[in-house]
Amino acid sequence: MSVSESESRLYSFSRFLSGICAHLVCAVFTGLMVALARPGSSLFSWHPFLMTLGFSFLMTEAILLLSPHVSPAWRLKHQAKTRLHWALQCLCAMCVLLGLGAIFYNKHLNDKPHFSTWHGLIGLMTVCLFLIQSVGALPLLYHKLAKGWSLAKLKRYHAASGLLTYLMGSVSLLLGMCSIWFTSSVSGYPWYLMAFCPTLAALVVMNQVTNAYMAKKRLQY
Ligand code: HEM
Repeated sequence: MSVSESESRLYSFSRFLSGICAHLVCAVFTGLMVALARPGSSLFSWHPFLMTLGFSFLMTEAILLLSPHVSPAWRLKHQAKTRLHWALQCLCAMCVLLGLGAIFYNKHLNDKPHFSTWHGLIGLMTVCLFLIQSVGALPLLYHKLAKGWSLAKLKRYHAASGLLTYLMGSVSLLLGMCSIWFTSSVSGYPWYLMAFCPTLAALVVMNQVTNAYMAKKRLQY
């Protein structure tokens, strides 16, 4: 086996391993957040639970579903995978809107100022970006909505803005983990271990999207 062959095998293996780890850490992270927030124990508890379920679990799975290496639906055809991607993103949108509603109403009931922290501000921007991204994806389903734009170009913009939304979601999650509510229960090494989860998932997603984009660009030359 030549050096470049063994290098590419090693690269494929590490990509596969990191993808599997991304699936695992997202599920574990969401499970830990369920245990910490105990959804239903208070109005606030729905916020970290729904946001984590939406951004960390559903959105990550919706993206990894389209991965050529670690898709849990690898047996399905591309069209079926795309439909599943849409279904998961719709579920994610529901979680995110309900999660935002819960914290907004909770603050209103407690007479607290809105969007007064970095987490609140970046979180609001993330939700807005996610909604714009969802509406902007409609021309991919109904191509007539974007006359003059090629499907390839639309897909590229969708992937790039989707990646930005995902990264903003990861930053919002990490900032949420800096809140007093979270740090009073989790601190020290366990905090860093938990912060590693959305960070690893973000790196894997970034690698998947940039690779797909660069491969397409290379084909055009
Ligand atoms: C991507 C996921 C998340 C988004 C987009 C998000 C968004 C937001 C927004 C917009 C607010 C401000 C609401 C208002 O001022 O009316 C907020 C507040 C809050 N969030 Fe999140 N959140 C997310 C995840 C989390 C997580 C995982 C936690 C806990 C670990 C958390 C804990 C809090 C807390 C304690 C507040 C109240 C204090 C503050 O405004 O910073 N959030 N969130």
